[in-house]
Amino acid sequence: MEPTGRLRLGVNIDHVATVRNARGSAYPDPVRAAKLAEEAGANGITAHLREDRRHITDADIENLMEALTLPLNFEMAATQEMQQIALRHKPHAVCIVPEKREERTTEGGLEVAREENRLAHYIAPLREAGCRVSIFIAADQRQVEAAHRIGAEVIELHTGAYCDFHAEGDFDKRDAEFHRLREMASFAHSLGLEVHAGHGLTYETVQPIAALPEVMELNIGHFLIGEAIFSGLGPAIKEMRRLMDDARQEA
Ligand code: PXP
Repeated sequence: MEPTGRLRLGVNIDHVATVRNARGSAYPDPVRAAKLAEEAGANGITAHLREDRRHITDADIENLMEALTLPLNFEMAATQEMQQIALRHKPHAVCIVPEKREERTTEGGLEVAREENRLAHYIAPLREAGCRVSIFIAADQRQVEAAHRIGAEVIELHTGAYCDFHAEGDFDKRDAEFHRLREMASFAHSLGLEVHAGHGLTYETVQPIAALPEVMELNIGHFLIGEAIFSGLGPAIKEMRRLMDDARQEA
């Protein structure tokens, strides 16, 4: 398959809030970061309101909804509380992610297959409210099929394992995981699902994922916010954008 259209970049601004919350100050402001991301060429803003509010807060979501012209991709766990918040704000997209209190970041994909019934009921009102529902899953055929059956329009493939193996220098495992990501991107597309990908992506790991023709959007945060310390947020986003576009063109 030929890549269709320009790959979208969603910039995740959670860790601007992490830095702010470390001191309980009013700065740095995630909304300011979102505006800068837009100027630098981001196509969307992603924010994860965690149950423990460790980074993004309810007020941040309100401020983002008010200030953003870019679409907001609202990441959340499949809880009643989060469903109510999403239904109140009606963001462009809702991405359902697994969440454990003790984890440092979203460690794995959602177990859709085991919770199919509950999740089908859970996402129905979100879809009725006009939100695009995306499900964050590992590159596993059972999960892709289940996401399709429950009526999700989008899956986001978890690239964390691929990035971790790369960082550890375990290139055999990295390549095996990449193979699974490629297969599942193609399989999901054949079912009519829109395919996104993200988690842990860096300048070093982004290009093979960006070159997958079925992938329409990447969501990237932690690396960009870290890189912003050295080069500024705008230049970091522009460099990521350049690498994505180059990979896409070569594909
Ligand atoms: N996509 C999803 C569903 C996520 O949960 C996250 C992390 O919040 C990301 C993308 C971005 O990951 P990272 O911050 O590691 O780039």
